[in-house]
Amino acid sequence: GKSVLIDRFGRRIDYVRLSITDRCDLRCLYCMSDDMSFLPRNQLLTLEEMARLGRCFGELGVSRIRITGGEPLVRRNAIWLFEQLGGLPSISDLALTTNGTQLSRHARALKDAGVTRINISLDSLDPGRFKRITRLGDIRKTLAGIEAAVRCGFERIKLNSVILKHRNHDEVLDLTRFAIDRGIDLSFIEEMPLGFIGDHDRAEAYYSSDAIRHDLQREFDLLPSTVTTGGPSKYYRIAGTETRVGFISPHSHSFCEHCNRVRVTAEGRLLLCLGHEDSADLRRALRANPCDDAPVKQAIIAAMEIKPRGHDFGRPGHAPISRHMNVSGG
Ligand code: GTP
Ligand code: 5AD
Ligand code: SF4
Repeated sequence: GKSVLIDRFGRRIDYVRLSITDRCDLRCLYCMSDDMSFLPRNQLLTLEEMARLGRCFGELGVSRIRITGGEPLVRRNAIWLFEQLGGLPSISDLALTTNGTQLSRHARALKDAGVTRINISLDSLDPGRFKRITRLGDIRKTLAGIEAAVRCGFERIKLNSVILKHRNHDEVLDLTRFAIDRGIDLSFIEEMPLGFIGDHDRAEAYYSSDAIRHDLQREFDLLPSTVTTGGPSKYYRIAGTETRVGFISPHSHSFCEHCNRVRVTAEGRLLLCLGHEDSADLRRALRANPCDDAPVKQAIIAAMEIKPRGHDFGRPGHAPISRHMNVSGG
């Protein structure tokens, strides 16, 4: 049904990103520092609490849930949660964002649980570069995960590549051919300034979506696509292929006006915008009302009043966001 979650600016929220762990088996240099400390496990929502939140959102009219992390598949029994959410009649789109390292083991179970779309991070096709960007990654595992997902026949599979100058900006054509050969989509992502990372200079690594699009047009025709998921991605179809290519320019404001989404962190904080600290404590609402969903739903509805008009990334005088990407799942 139509979502009853409407904010002060008239935007209807029907899409929730649920981070189920801040932990990860990789340490991508734009996401984490190499000495990250993680939340104590007792601070996290239980999977039962997350399933309960999924039900509450569904009853408020949310129809799309994307599970994020950290790396969602490192959470023990994660598949159980997918089965619960996949069984909710209100949820028509159940999506996962993953780094792919464990996907060859879990792809079939995810498909059976009702997962429709999977996004898999792949920043380089070169094993040495892949290792340097992810600090801990073995590219063979991620590639095996991608192939397993392709074999299982999800509705859509998309690769995510964060493009960094001098690390992988010369691979945009190779990554695009890789996606075309497998009949899958891909997105090129500009890095966002979330969390301080000591040994990585974000300004120096900046490579714009415009530059990437220019690189692609040397070889491909990009046909503007009307497809939108309500997120920041602008999509094109590559002429003569099944592949759509998205450009995520988080610094652009064009998508904020149509924003359809909120996020829940692994500790149950409802974040109203990726670029703001405003949040509502759903964990407290859940734990204070173990047998009654009404107050939890009330807390979600009330939070719509504090959803900001848009993010303030890079606005002069705006305090930087100290939370790292792995806490909110992007
Ligand atoms: P769908 O909208 O479900 O198709 O997801 P997606 O492809 O945008 O999601 P994914 O988890 O793969 O994230 C890709 C990139 O988009 C990540 O870098 C996210 O941080 C970023 N992103 C997702 N939603 C938002 C948003 O509302 N604002 C901004 N600035 N970035 C976002
Ligand atoms: N800026 C942009 N994208 C990021 N990701 C992780 N950290 C950042 C960042 N600081 C990407 C991951 C994954 C997606 C969910 O977000 O590579 O593909
Ligand atoms: Fe892990 Fe994803 Fe962050 Fe890389 S970007 S460290 S895979 S959570």
